[in-house]
Amino acid sequence: MRKILILNLVIISFLSCNQQAATKTSNNNVIDQKVDSLLQLMTLEEKIGQMNQYNGFWDVTGPVPSAGDAAKKFEHLKKGWVGSMLNVRGVENVRKVQKIAVEESRLGIPLIIGFDVIHGYETQSPIPLAESASWDLEAIKKSAQMAAKEAAAAGINWTFAPMVDISRDARWGRVMEGAGEDPYLGSKIGVARVEGFQGDDLSNPYTIAACAKHFAAYGFAESGKDYNTADVGLSTLYNTILPPFKAAHEAGVKTFMNSFNELNGIPATGDKFLQRDILKGEWNYEGFVVSDWGSIMEMMAHGYAKDKKHAAELAANAGSDMDMESYAYVNELASLVKEGKVSEEHITDAARRILRVKFELGLFEDPYKYCDESREKEIIGSKEMHDAALDMAKKSIVLLKNEDNLLPLKKNGQKIALIGALASDTNSPLGNWRLAAKDNSAVSVVEGMKAYKENELMYAEGTTLYLGETNFPSELVLNTTDKSKFNEAVSIAKKADVVVMVLGEVGYQSGEARSRSKLDLPGLQQELLETIYKVNKNIVLVLNNGRPLAITWADENIPAIVEAWQLGSQAGNAIAQVLYGDYNPSGKLPMTFPRSVGQVPIYYNYKNTGRPGPKKEVFWSHYQDETNKPLYPFGYGLSYTSFEYKNLKASISSGNIEVSVDITNTGTVEGKEVAQLYIRDVIASVTRPVKELKGFEMIALNPSETKTVTFKLTKDELGFYNNQREFVVEPGEFKIFVGGSSDSNLETTIDYK
Ligand code: GLC
Repeated sequence: MRKILILNLVIISFLSCNQQAATKTSNNNVIDQKVDSLLQLMTLEEKIGQMNQYNGFWDVTGPVPSAGDAAKKFEHLKKGWVGSMLNVRGVENVRKVQKIAVEESRLGIPLIIGFDVIHGYETQSPIPLAESASWDLEAIKKSAQMAAKEAAAAGINWTFAPMVDISRDARWGRVMEGAGEDPYLGSKIGVARVEGFQGDDLSNPYTIAACAKHFAAYGFAESGKDYNTADVGLSTLYNTILPPFKAAHEAGVKTFMNSFNELNGIPATGDKFLQRDILKGEWNYEGFVVSDWGSIMEMMAHGYAKDKKHAAELAANAGSDMDMESYAYVNELASLVKEGKVSEEHITDAARRILRVKFELGLFEDPYKYCDESREKEIIGSKEMHDAALDMAKKSIVLLKNEDNLLPLKKNGQKIALIGALASDTNSPLGNWRLAAKDNSAVSVVEGMKAYKENELMYAEGTTLYLGETNFPSELVLNTTDKSKFNEAVSIAKKADVVVMVLGEVGYQSGEARSRSKLDLPGLQQELLETIYKVNKNIVLVLNNGRPLAITWADENIPAIVEAWQLGSQAGNAIAQVLYGDYNPSGKLPMTFPRSVGQVPIYYNYKNTGRPGPKKEVFWSHYQDETNKPLYPFGYGLSYTSFEYKNLKASISSGNIEVSVDITNTGTVEGKEVAQLYIRDVIASVTRPVKELKGFEMIALNPSETKTVTFKLTKDELGFYNNQREFVVEPGEFKIFVGGSSDSNLETTIDYK
């Protein structure tokens, strides 16, 4: 602590005697002046040190590392050659590493401590794709706030979230981590998450710095294979991929993370066009960019860097400010500067950006502000956290089908057969990004359903899903042969009034490096479903999955289908409360569900092409063996009630298009509806999609109640980027669509001048 006080005194004295110089270098922002003053005290190696991030490399409660890589890293920590660490968590551990950085290095610059707080810290909220299905921006923001509060209590002050990658390809495992296929929804949700994590005062000990990732086009990996090549045109880059990143920037996100993939032949980590021309140039971004894990070094494998030194040169010159676990900057940058291959200005700029965030977090005032044992005990795993997780989980559930009103279940007098390994799985609902969650800590569907004691509840696993263990780095081995548990499931199904089957994906079947070439129910689950169907057709299928699935047979045969994703720590309670009608499902799909994997990538905002259909002859854009229609479209979701849209009107007023529509609850129970507004710019200098989401509003309606919902379309919503990268709004015909899904056909047309 003594070191940091001296450092602050030095900075302040520097400020006073360099007031003139300090004001010249910044916009009178006190923090900028402190940063500039500190930079003037720093050696080149110390500035480079700020650009170096290490993963936690030893058990800090044990002996100090004395050999190998860990010993070297430990020396760097003491020298002030480490700016950040990740995967060090818990107040005791963070305090230990912070103490070394602050009290043993020459300048005592505190570390920024990063962690993947993707959908919760220890208490897991639903996976981000599930949260996105709520379309409830306030709830999503609250969820991020809770995650930040819990993570901050554990010593974390920076999360590598929100992931704002748009993706149209359910084969890609990381769709679970984002907000789906649409740039407008993805932008709104990205902003809600940034605001939730960072709050309006980053120095507040319950807020943490956020990170917009993965910059950019990571979700456009060819063939849905993670880390694979992305090749997109300017129109897709500027109109689909970049908008959520730009929105996160405008919301004040403190950091970006560049992506593993190459974009149009250039690895993102070494892409000057992305990081300096667009992000730091066109957008004037002032935060810092961290590489993804080892992505600097991986430019060698890409065939873009000849060695690690060349990789360091390419990444630093391209605008990648911090090196996550490549050891390239700490080992190579100083000599690159001395050889004139990397300018010291780039190093100083990178260090400035990193130091600024540390000052904004308040780490110079008190490097141990996130190390409060009492807060850790009080907040982590608290009722407040679980209540928020339950609320978010209920709002994330999407009702896909409900024939003959099989749902909600009766609360008494019913024999329920609950079947499926996922129904008793207390890990999978936590999803893939649950690094700090306790194993087996989720409320299972079995537990959730048991709370409804009036009904007789029978349970059978039906089929083992996987063999051996599941964990973050290991391949999953599915059970594709052992049907020994089918009979028990059949026997309880025969006795039941209603069968609830919880089927879908194991938690580690989606997420990073978890791409699939099929989108069916994995393993023996489809066979189990059809076997049970033969003895009892009254089936409620509850999906637990991290991506859209092509469940076409189920849609054709199963009367009720609920999309319950991976809902986090309170999954079982949320599912039970929806199945029993204590919460009327209000979710809408943030990503299209295909009929078959052959349709992928499939998305609602497609282009019309020169040969739309259907036509009598074959000469139009279609398949011979599959319809172009999805199984469930973007924005789709049912309720236990029903809604009617009418009186759609559109008019122009002071350069905007004003839209209004009446929505009535035509059912017998109250419900929430997400009214969605889509446009089509019919003729434009760059072709525009057949539909684009440009507004949505959630409303609650009692039975027979009608509300008028209004939308305003400004130039921001009507415009697009042309191939000269200019944002333009072009006069002409616009179609306007409003409804409860992207395939609603209530439309009107307006001539926008
Ligand atoms: C991973 C992920 C990235 C994550 C980082 C740190 O490889 O790609 O999203 O934040 O490494 O864990």
